[in-house]
Amino acid sequence: MAETSHSSLPVNLQWGGRFAAGPAAVMQEINASIAFDQRLWRQDIQGSLAHAAMLAHVGIISAADEVAIREGLEAIAVEIEEGRFVFDPGLEDIHTNIEARLIARIGEAGRRLHTARSRNDQVATDLRLWLREAIDGLDRQVVVLMQALADRALEHAALPIPGFTHLQSAQPVTFGHHLLAYVEMFARDRGRLADCRCRLNECPLGAAALAGTAFPIDRAMTSAALGFARPCANSLDAVSDRDFALEFLAAAALVASHLSRLAEEIVLWASPAFRFIQLSDAFTTGSSIMPQKRNPDAAELVRAKTGRIGGAFLALLTVLKGLPLAYGKDLQEDKEPVFDAAAALALSLAAMAGMVRDLVPDEARMAAMAGDGFSTATDLADWLVRMLGMPFRTAHHVTGRLVAKAEARGIALAELPLSEMQAEEPRISEAVYGVLTVASSVASRDSEGGTAPARVAQAAEKWRRTLAG
Ligand code: ARG
Repeated sequence: MAETSHSSLPVNLQWGGRFAAGPAAVMQEINASIAFDQRLWRQDIQGSLAHAAMLAHVGIISAADEVAIREGLEAIAVEIEEGRFVFDPGLEDIHTNIEARLIARIGEAGRRLHTARSRNDQVATDLRLWLREAIDGLDRQVVVLMQALADRALEHAALPIPGFTHLQSAQPVTFGHHLLAYVEMFARDRGRLADCRCRLNECPLGAAALAGTAFPIDRAMTSAALGFARPCANSLDAVSDRDFALEFLAAAALVASHLSRLAEEIVLWASPAFRFIQLSDAFTTGSSIMPQKRNPDAAELVRAKTGRIGGAFLALLTVLKGLPLAYGKDLQEDKEPVFDAAAALALSLAAMAGMVRDLVPDEARMAAMAGDGFSTATDLADWLVRMLGMPFRTAHHVTGRLVAKAEARGIALAELPLSEMQAEEPRISEAVYGVLTVASSVASRDSEGGTAPARVAQAAEKWRRTLAG
C-alpha cells in the first residue's frame, strides 16, 4: 500500500467522531458507491421526504424542522436536476451526499433527518422504489413489442413458412403463428415481472440499521406515502435480503433469453441462405469492404445482451449466497448488476420492437420454402389413415416409401404421378393431391392453438384487443 494514500482526504462525515484519519485512497475507491448509486437520487429524496413527514407527524421532530427539511430536499432535487450538484466520492454514496448537502443548506434541522433511520433501511427502500419504476417501464416496453408482434401476425396470419424441428423442415406453419408463439412467451414474462413487483412492494423504512428503533415511528405512514403495500415485517430481513432484486434479474434473464431466440431467428431469416426477410436500414449496418452486405447487428446485439443480463443474475446470486444477517457491505454490489441489466433489457426491447415493425417478409420465398423438404408428408400419412382406415404406423411407412421415390426423382410429393403412388398403395386416389399443398396443410391444422390461418387471425385479434385494453 502506498504510504501517500492517507491523510489528505477530509475526515469522513459519518464516523469522524471515532476515526482520526481519513480513508486510504484505495479504501475510498472500493468503498464509494456514488459513481453508480447517484441514479437513486430521486428515490432517496422521495424516501427522506416521507421519513421527515412521519417524524414530524409523531412529534420526533418539529413541524418547522420538517418544513426546512422538505424545502431543503426540494432545492437539492433542483440542483441535481440542473446538473449543479457536485457528487463527492469522499461522501461515499447518494445518501450521505444528499444529507451532507442538506446540512450545508439548512444547518441544524438537516442534522435531525437521520433520526430513527439508517442507510441500511434507506438504501433498501431506494432500490425497491427504483426497481418498481424500472419494472413498470420495462413492462410497457414488453407490451409495445407484443403489439408489434401481434400486428405483424395478423398481417401474415396465412403466410406459410417452413416449421422446423431440429432446424429441419417438419410441417408448414404460418408466419403469424410463429410470431404469436413469442407473444405467448412475453406474456408469461410480464407475469413474472408483475409477481416480482408485487413481492418487492414492501417498505423497509423503520428497520433502521437492523433491529428497528426505540423511537415511536409510524411505519404504516411512510410505507403508504411511498406507495408500498405494507411495511416489511422483519427488520433484519428488510435490510439484509435482496431477493427482490434477484427475482427481477431472473425475470429479466428470461425476457432476454426469449429475445435472444427471436434475435437468432431474425439473423437466420435475414441471411442469404434463408432470404425470408429483409431488415430495414434502420436496424442493419453495411460492411466497410463488402458493399453487398446488410448485417443484422441489432439482432446480434440483442442476442448477445442476454449474456450480461444472465450474468447479472449470477453475479448477485453469488453475492447473496452465504451472507450472514443482517447488512453487509457486500450488499452494495447489488446495484450495478441491476442497473446494467435493466438498461440492457430496455435497449434490447426497443431494438427488437423496431426490427419487428420494420421487417419485410419475402412472401414468395417463404411460401416456396414452406413446401420444401416434403413438408406435407405428415398430411399424406394422415390422409391414408382417414380415407383408407390404415393404421398410422403403416401409413407412416407407406409415406416414407413415397418420399423416397420423390426424393430419388428430385421432385416434390405433389409432383409424384398417381401411378407411382398406386404402385405403393393401390387404393390411393386422385383426391390425395388435395392434401399435399402447403395451403391445404396449414388450413387443415385447425385444432385449438394450431397453425390454421383462421385460428391464427383469431388469436392475433385477441392479443391486439387484450394489449390495447
Ligand atoms: N452505499 C451503501 C450500499 O449501497 C449504503 C448502505 C451503507 N450502510 C453501511 N452500514 N455502511 O449498500
